[in-house]
Amino acid sequence: MSGRRILLGVTGGIAAYKSADLVRRLQDRGAQVRVVMTRGARAFVTPLTFQAVSGNPVHTDLLDEAAEAGMGHIELARWADVVLVAPATANFMARVAHGLADDLLSTLCLATAAPLVFAPAMNQKMWSNAATQDNCAILTERAVRLIGPASGGQACGETGPGRMVEPVELAAAVLSGSPGLLEGRHVVVTAGPTYEDIDPVRYIGNRSSGKMGFAVAAAAVAAGARVSLVSGPVKLPTPSGVSRTDVRGASEMRDVAIRLASSADVFISVAAVADYTPARPSTQKIKKGLPKQKLELVSTPDIVAEVAALEDRPFTIGFAAETEKLKEHALEKLSRKRLDMIAANRVGLSGAGFDSETNEILILSRDGEKYLGKGSKHHLAGLLVEEVADRLKGIDRIDTSTDKNTRPASGN
Ligand code: PMT
Repeated sequence: MSGRRILLGVTGGIAAYKSADLVRRLQDRGAQVRVVMTRGARAFVTPLTFQAVSGNPVHTDLLDEAAEAGMGHIELARWADVVLVAPATANFMARVAHGLADDLLSTLCLATAAPLVFAPAMNQKMWSNAATQDNCAILTERAVRLIGPASGGQACGETGPGRMVEPVELAAAVLSGSPGLLEGRHVVVTAGPTYEDIDPVRYIGNRSSGKMGFAVAAAAVAAGARVSLVSGPVKLPTPSGVSRTDVRGASEMRDVAIRLASSADVFISVAAVADYTPARPSTQKIKKGLPKQKLELVSTPDIVAEVAALEDRPFTIGFAAETEKLKEHALEKLSRKRLDMIAANRVGLSGAGFDSETNEILILSRDGEKYLGKGSKHHLAGLLVEEVADRLKGIDRIDTSTDKNTRPASGN
């Protein structure tokens, strides 16, 4: 990570003031930072601020003779290992999505071969607007990585998604999971909920949004892995560089996951898989009328336990979503499902775990435990990937000769 060259683009949003701190956070992690500011950004913060914190001249104009004589725009584009735009306004993302090159920063985004990472920041209605969402879809399809936005109170007085992810989290998301850590590895991640159909219009589901699993998939790609993501029904764009298969129910997720896991190096089971499914889903809508209805449920396959029981299994990591006795229950799952590692997180109605931007994770394995802390799901995903990479050092494939033909016990 040390010495990675980050070209930081700052565009015109109120969060621009936080980007000065971002420069410091990136430098704390050993990065070299050069800053490019748009005209809009200069209305919020002066170039002098960024020059002082970065220790480098700030670049502002495409056709500035003096700047071109120093480090021209093509040289800047070549210099960068990563182009990080934070904050990235709706207008800037729209311009890049449509290939405009009418100022220095948008030109650099077209001219560089380095990965592009955008941290969107805008009013929550602008973020939800269909035009912005379409532009995000174009960008992610073209391998631009989006980090955030986070949800919360906004400078305009509204509340919702649109805040720039905090500098410390951004720096960690960009620089953790450093390239090479999982180079040459195939990582399979499951994410999101499963929907178990009762009839053509009703199903049993849960509150998983897929955010944690998608963050893990993105962190694994950033670490150089080939990543297959098996996702239940969620409303999230596919992280760039990830190969995604959408599924609905637990049994469909199981079939895809087992097929992919049999040739994978790492399997990370973040999905909130239903433990039970209707025994006989109705092919017709069940009519109202009876005062009572009975629904017979049968157990679903335990996907992660089946993966851990494969003859030539990948390094297998589960997640434990617990409302009480976090460590005790997670340890029980680690042992019963024969996992290599489990990430325990507390979930609850107060917004912890499910469908939030943040999480708190304790990882447990036979070697002991490690508290990864509280933070954004992207930040924690990066730390988890680092832990996994650490355990994989020197391992080609997991030898499971002692576990052969072991079938998992029942239970969630
Ligand atoms: O999606 P988000 O909104 O971001 O929320 C993230 C999360 C809370 C869903 C995630 O962090 C998490 O905890 N995922 C695991 C949820 C879960 O189902 O936990 P569990 O304790 O019930 O299951 C233990 C493990 O067995 C999990 O790895 C699960 O994927 C796996 N499992 C469970 C049942 C089953 N039939 N098959 C499985 O593979």
